[in-house]
Amino acid sequence: MPGDLISQGGPPLRGRMAVPGDKSISHRAIIFGALAEGETRVEKLLEGEDVQRTVAAFRAMGVEIERLGAGSYRLAGVGLDGLAEPDDVLNMGNSGTAMRLLTGLLSSQPFLSILTGDDSLRGRPMGRIVTPLGRMGAKILGRDGGKLAPLVIQGQELVPMDHISPVASAQVKTALLLAGLNTAGETSVTEPALSRDHTERMLTAFGAEIRREGLKVTVDGWPTLTGQKITVPGDISSAAFPMVAALVVPGSDLTLEGVGINPTRTGLLDLLLQMGGNIQQLNPREEGGEQVADLRVQYSKLQGITVPEAVVPRAIDEFPIFFVAASVADGETLLTGANELRVKESDRIAAMVTGLKALGAQIEERPDGARISGLGGGLTGGATVDSHTDHRIAMSLLVAGLVSGSPVRVARCGNINTSFPGFADLMAALGADISKG
Ligand code: S3P
Repeated sequence: MPGDLISQGGPPLRGRMAVPGDKSISHRAIIFGALAEGETRVEKLLEGEDVQRTVAAFRAMGVEIERLGAGSYRLAGVGLDGLAEPDDVLNMGNSGTAMRLLTGLLSSQPFLSILTGDDSLRGRPMGRIVTPLGRMGAKILGRDGGKLAPLVIQGQELVPMDHISPVASAQVKTALLLAGLNTAGETSVTEPALSRDHTERMLTAFGAEIRREGLKVTVDGWPTLTGQKITVPGDISSAAFPMVAALVVPGSDLTLEGVGINPTRTGLLDLLLQMGGNIQQLNPREEGGEQVADLRVQYSKLQGITVPEAVVPRAIDEFPIFFVAASVADGETLLTGANELRVKESDRIAAMVTGLKALGAQIEERPDGARISGLGGGLTGGATVDSHTDHRIAMSLLVAGLVSGSPVRVARCGNINTSFPGFADLMAALGADISKG
């Protein structure tokens, strides 16, 4: 079928790869660049479909965004009060980040906007932003009492608020801080654990007053944001796939260049190191307020572990590929406290348990995670498995194919383009046997 990919065991993975730009940081660079006064230049922007949805939305609101070359963009910022009412529905495609961040922003803009998305996005929970935004006075309608997109937002003046969030979610945090930008007074969000802090870092760089006390972050309304030059680091969530592939395919030795190692994102590195993974951080440096390093990864005999729950928010996007590492490690791995995996682009616990079981893994579903009895070696493979149209499930199952005895066909891989355009070709350039189905 078109969109299927097939992977199978082959030679070791060797060489160097520059991973694509960080998705979270790319969305934010477009949003803050659009809202700033003056010009913003962005280099190494992720040109995946998700970020292109954010670019298209701001163009539809009158922001001039020019592509100067591969990953290189110039934005003519319009200021906090310069957006124009879009004359059509804004389609966020597969992107939860675009949908939730723009809902927050648009709820305090003085015009009507309607946000929709693909089948997956229209099934994802929006109550977690619609309810607290409603407490600020936002007028948002959606299906199922505002819990599901499409969302209709009648933007207006809001009142600031001090929100205690029950989930550690950077999308919830950022949606509220964005609503607070256009709201007089102080808007605060307190999270149960620190989620990725790219918003706080980048807003500060653009000139906003952001204060942090423990897990509480506060923004002052009506800052003047000034255009910046931003170089987007490589996405550790994309690096995760070649990283685990190199750890599990015997003889591999890879260097992943310019990977963002912001401490709110490095949970997977900590877990893989604890499992005995040979990963070295080389040439650490800072780019645009974010830490970056080259990661050298060599094949390693991995040991199963119990995942400390405190690590979960720092590795939340990486559990599908972590399950692959745990399936071939020696001994048992236990993940708990990861209920959020159920409401990502797919139910990632169910999708990975079904997929990996079909490939011969010993993995058992739990309500909030999984228990895996590592095989201490490769999978059997020889099956067709479904990505559930989820980019990270697709890439994880393809990596599983690289340590399988027989080829693995992964169905519906098209959404890999949302976060990692060129994945199959880049992996093939390192020696991986991944081809079109
Ligand atoms: C993101 C936050 C996370 C993450 C997503 C990107 C962001 O989602 O899973 O891929 O850019 O803010 P949650 O906020 O739902 O945890």
